[in-house]
Amino acid sequence: MINVAHPVVGKRERQLIKEVLDSRILASGKYVTQFEQSFARYSGAKFGIASVNGTTSLHTALLMCGVKSGDKVVTTPFSFIATANSILFCNAKPIFADIDPKTFNINPVELEKILKKEKNVKAVLIVHLYGLSCDMDAILELKQKYKFKLIEDSCQAHGAEFKNKKVGSFGDASAFSFYATKNMMTGEGGIILTNDAKFDKYARQVINHGRDAHSTYTVLGYNYRLTNLAAAIGVAQLEQLENWISKRIANAQEYNEAFKDLDFLQIPCVPKNSRHVFHQYTIRVSPSQREEFIKYIADKGIGSGIYYNSVIYNQPFYKQLGYEVGLCKEAEKVAQEVVSLPIHQSLSKADIYKIIKVIKSYKNEYKNNRDRGRILRTASCKNFRTAL
Ligand SMILES: Cc1ncc(COP(=O)(O)O)c(C=O)c1O
Repeated sequence: MINVAHPVVGKRERQLIKEVLDSRILASGKYVTQFEQSFARYSGAKFGIASVNGTTSLHTALLMCGVKSGDKVVTTPFSFIATANSILFCNAKPIFADIDPKTFNINPVELEKILKKEKNVKAVLIVHLYGLSCDMDAILELKQKYKFKLIEDSCQAHGAEFKNKKVGSFGDASAFSFYATKNMMTGEGGIILTNDAKFDKYARQVINHGRDAHSTYTVLGYNYRLTNLAAAIGVAQLEQLENWISKRIANAQEYNEAFKDLDFLQIPCVPKNSRHVFHQYTIRVSPSQREEFIKYIADKGIGSGIYYNSVIYNQPFYKQLGYEVGLCKEAEKVAQEVVSLPIHQSLSKADIYKIIKVIKSYKNEYKNNRDRGRILRTASCKNFRTAL
């Protein structure tokens, strides 16, 4: 089976892990500091604060921005549930703005409708989904106009760029995940980035039980610290990230070329000014054929994933908080159509050709079932480049 994800652990990771084990400095240590500095530098931010995972990084980023009980935070409903959960951790209220189905990211027009209607929105938590930057020109313009704090959930977008600037460096704070299947990983892990020295100082307290530089406890804190072991893996992985991103982009290029004329699927659109790092290569197929398509390729040895088959507010826990079906129609529609194909850096040429061959062969299957539904080609790629 060609799996949708394949974490890479090389010689360098093993060498650094052995060094850390031999040193017996297993909790905080020199690799944590090295990793924080090198990842912040790579992403174009001044400060990096390593943390146990992407979720704790999001929680810390929201606390840094002063989000507290009763505050309103606008976000996308089409993301991993941790995005919205982190808002609930602060006892704040998630308000969902619909997405642009072309990019799968929050639609600035929908965001502005909410900002006009809702008074006193404290923060906006955007997500650069699948490795594609949100429309940062439009979002920064709204930030100027409506004066909210901006947090970037960059958990899937290490190295992604908007107009040659890396994501995670635009907002007041940002959060990344180094979960095992991400474009770079530390098993479990995360980091918060910021350009604000005061935020950096506060975040260091939040992740360390509230302790300040004088070993007194002046704020409520948690144990959200990354281990030296995990950070050592991160140091080794970061050295290879650009090479891995290039491979993902090259794989996406092969797929785009092969799939662009198939009428049963829609390839991802990439805005002209963005560098998509393809954490996921996500196509859209007709809702009535998605299950069959996934089974067809699985029977021929191709794995896939659905990220996500429901918008966050339609999950039972959120329904019980009072959110109703129909709130964000584009996101609900897209959740029925998306399929992510293997795109990772470990795919061989032979894997890529096999995947292309199998997917092209589905065409015959599709023809036989044409009456059962068509792909919703609402999202034209006009003004986007489908080739990279
Ligand atoms: C968009 C998004 N936000 C948040 C998270 C949470 O990160 P973690 O799993 O490291 O806690 C993830 C990870 O899956 C994610 O993809």
